[in-house]
Amino acid sequence: MRTLDNASPCRDLIFFDSHCHLNDEEFATDADEVLVRARAAGVEEMLVAGYDLSSSQQAMKLATDHPGVYAAVGVHPHDAKTVTPAVLREVEKMLDREEVVALGEIGLDFHYDYSPREAQKAVFRSFLELAKKKDKPVIIHDREAHGETLAILEEVAALHGGGFCGVMHCYAASPEMLPAFLTLGFYISVAGPLTFKNTKRLPEVVSLVPEDRLLIETDSPYLTPCPYRGRRNEPMYVKEVARRVAEIWGKNIREVAEVTRNNARRCFRIN
Ligand code: NI
Repeated sequence: MRTLDNASPCRDLIFFDSHCHLNDEEFATDADEVLVRARAAGVEEMLVAGYDLSSSQQAMKLATDHPGVYAAVGVHPHDAKTVTPAVLREVEKMLDREEVVALGEIGLDFHYDYSPREAQKAVFRSFLELAKKKDKPVIIHDREAHGETLAILEEVAALHGGGFCGVMHCYAASPEMLPAFLTLGFYISVAGPLTFKNTKRLPEVVSLVPEDRLLIETDSPYLTPCPYRGRRNEPMYVKEVARRVAEIWGKNIREVAEVTRNNARRCFRIN
């Protein structure tokens, strides 16, 4: 006999926050409470992305301690100048661990230029080679470096034949560039900026992404969505991103939650 609960169209929404930084020091004192609030809001799964060696270790610890939490390990382009062969070897070792589902976040950031651009590009190539060697999904950070990011991805893909499994995190390139990233095999992830009033091109991007290629994320503690701007971001607010996607797609939030969760599980090869 089917229970009322199973038959009910009102059963709880379940979300997958495809990119957050619960490993950030902003969450040093209350990560457990943040996780409880996330679960209460239906965020049963989340990926914690590393941005240097210690945050990658912290991501692994969170993933080991909490079911439904997965880790990615890598070094952010801000710190590209610190990436030595020894650091690459350390990341390679981490990739063998069961709780680590992806290499990231890696990429290029020409907005802050905290590391010289040539160093960023060289390290980005090294990490992409490592992802190919270890057959791991990649999480790409691209800020104001869209053309260079795409060129390096295409170059490494061509060297190895075939594209990538992975995600363009917090997509900020143009709608026009979208087909190139999709052709390489990437999923496209959107965060809080989709909910901002002044965003013009992101809704267009979302309307163009095939249903089976979109992910949602918070990138918390950053990029808090409307109507919570000004507060620290948390995984529970991923629902606001889903709500906006639902409006753009003309679907209900339940379908968006389910589709994006399935996409994240496929992207990160979970189960
Ligand atoms: Ni991030």
